[in-house]
Order: sequence, then C-alpha cells, then structure tokens
Amino acid sequence: MSPSPASNRPAAPATTGRFGVRIAGTGSSLPVGRLTNADLEKVMETSDEWIVQRTGIHERRRINHELNESTHTLSAAALRAALSAARMTGADLDLIIVATMTGEMSCPSVACLVAKSVGAGHAGAFDVNAACSGFVFSANIAHDLIKGGTYKSVAVIGADTLSTLMDYSNAGRSTAIIFGDGAGAAIFRATDDPSKGLLAQCMHADGEGWKDIYVPREARDFPAGVACDPSKFGRVQMNGAAVFKFAVGTFSDLIQETLDKAGVAAADVDMFVCHQSNLRILTAARERFGISEEKLYVNIDRVGNTVGASVPLCLDELVRAGRVKEGHKVMFVAFGGGLTWGSSLWQL
Ligand code: UT7
Repeated sequence: MSPSPASNRPAAPATTGRFGVRIAGTGSSLPVGRLTNADLEKVMETSDEWIVQRTGIHERRRINHELNESTHTLSAAALRAALSAARMTGADLDLIIVATMTGEMSCPSVACLVAKSVGAGHAGAFDVNAACSGFVFSANIAHDLIKGGTYKSVAVIGADTLSTLMDYSNAGRSTAIIFGDGAGAAIFRATDDPSKGLLAQCMHADGEGWKDIYVPREARDFPAGVACDPSKFGRVQMNGAAVFKFAVGTFSDLIQETLDKAGVAAADVDMFVCHQSNLRILTAARERFGISEEKLYVNIDRVGNTVGASVPLCLDELVRAGRVKEGHKVMFVAFGGGLTWGSSLWQL
C-alpha cells in the first residue's frame, strides 16, 4: 500500500460518499513458540498424518506467559508494524477496534490497552466479539465510519490466543489440533479517491447455532441435555462436524452473496482472503467457484486456525509479498462461533 502523510485529529466534517477508503498499512505478530503436530503427538492420542489429512495444519503458534505474550501484546505489536508500514504514529489514529474473543480481562478492553501501548492519546477504542468473523465485521464498521466522514484513520486488529482455552489432552484433541495464536492489523484511512473502498459487505449471525462452539464458565452455560462437566470450564467446546457442515455451505453462499451484491464475477476478484478454518473447507469453496490456487491464499499449514487473527494475518502476508496491492479487488470471507459469518469485497 502506498503511504500518505499522517492526518491530524479530529477528522474534518465531510459529506457522505465524497471519500474513498484505502488500506494504508498492515502488520502482524505471531508468538515465538511453535507447537508442531509432533509436539501434540506427545501429549494426546493423535498423529501428524491424521491432523494433516483432516485439517492441512502442520504447526501453529502458542503464546508463552513467561515471555509476556498475550492477546494485548500481540495486538500492539501487529498495530506497530501496520503503523510503520503506513508511516503513521499512534497519535494519528482516530479509533482502534480489536476483534477478539480472548481478551485478558472483561474490563478493560484489549483495544484500550493497545491504545495506551501505541500512544493513541484519546482515540476511541473498543473490542468486538464475533469470534472468527470479528476482523471482517470490524473492517466493515471501520469502512462505514470513514466513508460517512466521521473519522479519517481507523485501526482494526484481529487477535486471539485460543491456546488459553484449549485442553491439551485426549479430551480436547478435536479442538487443540486446530487452533493457534496470533494477531494481524490493518489501518483504514480516508482518501480523496471515492472509487476505493467497499464494493459490497455482508454480516450475518444465527444465535440458534451458539451451542456448536462455546466456552462454558459455569454449570448454566451447558446446552440443555449436556451434562455439566467442570473440567470443561474455560475450554472451547466445539461440535466439529456440525461446524464443518455449516462452514462448507456458508462459505460458498457468502462468496456468491457478496459477488451478487457488488455485481462482480468471481474471475474478476484478484485475491480471496479467507478465514483459515480447515484446508478442506477452503478447497471446497475454491473448487465451487473455479478459483485458482494462487487466488485463494492459504497459511493454515503454518499457523493453524487463529480465529479473529486469521484474515488480517493472511492480508499482511499478501501485502508484504506484493500479491495484494492498489488497484486489486480483494474479498475477505470469515465465519465462526455465534454462529457468525461475514464478508467484504474491497476495491483497493
Ligand atoms: O474457526 C471456527 C470454526 N471451526 C471450524 O471450522 C472447524 C470445523 N470442523 C473441523 O475442522 C473438523 O470437524 C475437525 C478437524 C475438528 C474434526 O475432523 P472430523 O473429520 O470432523 O473428525 P470427527 O470429529 O468427525 O472425528 C472423527 C474421528 C473420531 O473417532 P471415531 O468416533 O470415528 O472413532 C474422533 O474421535 O476422529 C477422532 N479424532 C481424532 N483422531 C486423531 C478426533 N480428533 C482426533 C485427533 N486425532 N486429533
């Protein structure tokens, strides 16, 4: 992304539709520690062959509290990298949104801690919890706040540390193999070019599906018919097969819905930046639309399913590799707990 001079807050009043929205910079941060399939074989009954065949994952990253790694520190590091890419400082930001389901505390928000870390002064800051869809939902919010003239510069971070909610034993083997930790950030800014920004966006949820992915904290959190098991408190409970079925259908329907809203053909999208849930889900969507392998980015083999960080981590890797740039049409697609699913098609 080409950098531009930093803005001065507060944003000047503007007329809706006069501005475009561009991505001024991206960044990401991964924990130092690697958790390979071989590491998991040592603590639970599983195998590298099973994990690779069912998910496409070879390794994921895991935070280490002794190294002071957390959702907050990863978020701040990702944002610093994005600010550097955009040639901005924290003081240039009007608003910080962190998409996460693994904040350290219920109060304050991760966003407030990040704002302090990067010197964002009195910029607004709040968290969004839409599980794996959180970054895409938040990017859509950021876009519309800028497009409407309310703000000029909004940072959106997707960050999660699901390792803190895992049971690394046989009892948790169907979830512990999938999830990894990480953070990705993007800075959205107003531009005088009104052709840049969202061509279409979708945000959906179905609370009926809450029990397919949930994290119980006490007895009353278990769905009707499921016995309370205190050993599951604070651990992700996932009906993998149900989520898999939901995801395969939803993924394709969501891409089609977004293309239809924008009046754009799949072949005209330069890159699909999709939530890395399971390689088989990504492959099914790619095959349905005849998307070439180069146009649907995959990093799940190296980082696993990083929940809210998944889409911005991919985006940052693509931007830094020069595979996503100004002029491209790029689609974000995500789905996850809630159940939630959302997308956006960007004209960069
Ligand atoms: O990002 C949030 C959204 N989440 C997702 O998108 C996850 C979607 N779901 C999935 O990716 C898959 O359902 C999983 C990868 C989680 C599981 O794969 P699966 O093919 O659906 O396996 P399964 O849960 O149906 O289990 C099949 C068998 C079972 O054994 P039996 O009952 O057939 O004897 C499991 O006990 O595989 C067994 N199994 C394992 N075996 C070795 C479950 N986990 C493991 C494991 N290693 N880690």
